[in-house]
Amino acid sequence: MRHLLSIADLGADGIEEILRLTDSFVEVSARNIPKVPVLRGKTVVSLFYEDSTRTRLSFEAAAKRLSADTMTFSVGTSSVKKGESVRDTLQTIEAMGVDAIVVRHGSAGVPVQVARWGTSAVINAGDGWHEHPTQALLDCYTIRQRLGSLAGRSIAIVGDIKHSRVARSDVLAFTALGAEVTLVAPPTLLPPSLDGWPVKVSHDLDAVLPTTDVAYLLRMQQERMTEALVPSLREYSTCYGMTSARADRLADTSLIMHPGPMNRGVEIAAEVADRPNATVVDQVRNGVPVRMAVLFLLLGSGSTLYDPVPDPATPDDETEHDEHGSAGA
Ligand code: NCD
Repeated sequence: MRHLLSIADLGADGIEEILRLTDSFVEVSARNIPKVPVLRGKTVVSLFYEDSTRTRLSFEAAAKRLSADTMTFSVGTSSVKKGESVRDTLQTIEAMGVDAIVVRHGSAGVPVQVARWGTSAVINAGDGWHEHPTQALLDCYTIRQRLGSLAGRSIAIVGDIKHSRVARSDVLAFTALGAEVTLVAPPTLLPPSLDGWPVKVSHDLDAVLPTTDVAYLLRMQQERMTEALVPSLREYSTCYGMTSARADRLADTSLIMHPGPMNRGVEIAAEVADRPNATVVDQVRNGVPVRMAVLFLLLGSGSTLYDPVPDPATPDDETEHDEHGSAGA
């Protein structure tokens, strides 16, 4: 694998491989010193043209735990403000010597372009309404951790699907691992065409809840809405919000998920987000080892977790030389 641009590039086998590798990095993350030297000497750059809290910090933490160097590019304080294009910015960054670029952009397709133009490994950290593959991977990992497997599970993705790159990547990943996905939203918040989407559609959350193993709530992405798509946020919450009463009707074992940032009181009641079956914090926690797995797969070939690059002169080396009488004092 050279880039991670879409979940479709991975298929079920690729997703499984990343989830398996994530188990090892969860173990690393639990150590006193949660760091391995597998990407020593590599440089990972975050190129974020859109705001982010979780995704950017999570990639940085992941790169650091693998001992890579990190650089961060923030549009607000860069020459983009002076009109520099993505292509020229890329050329500038690559001239400094980087190995991987983590790209977030408001337009679909920018990470694909960056991968074509540049020489580095490219990871899509969210492009417009298109995809957000590492979010889908951490969501799969979280569901697996809580429920054992996705196969045969009923997952309802609820809310602003039209503007959601998370929904697109999640549909691909969840169905690849055998889950059945129902999109639940008013018609105005669904994409204009769902041709080829392997999903069912419902406009009635209450009808779907009793058979739902996972209720995945999406943020109302008002910054992407150019017209009023729901009468009011209050009315949206009444019809599609995960209120306390709706959460009570879910089975005890059912999960309530949200990619963050949450609008408490809109798509999810403030109290519901803190319930034991709400996985919001788990999702963020799992994001780091999942991204370690992705970075390791893209940049770590040649070394393995269990045989990290040894230090140049460890005491063990010298002992061995002594035993063979070849170490000059
Ligand atoms: C999402 C995003 O930016 O695509 N957030 C995230 O990465 N966890 C979802 C959102 O903004 O609603």
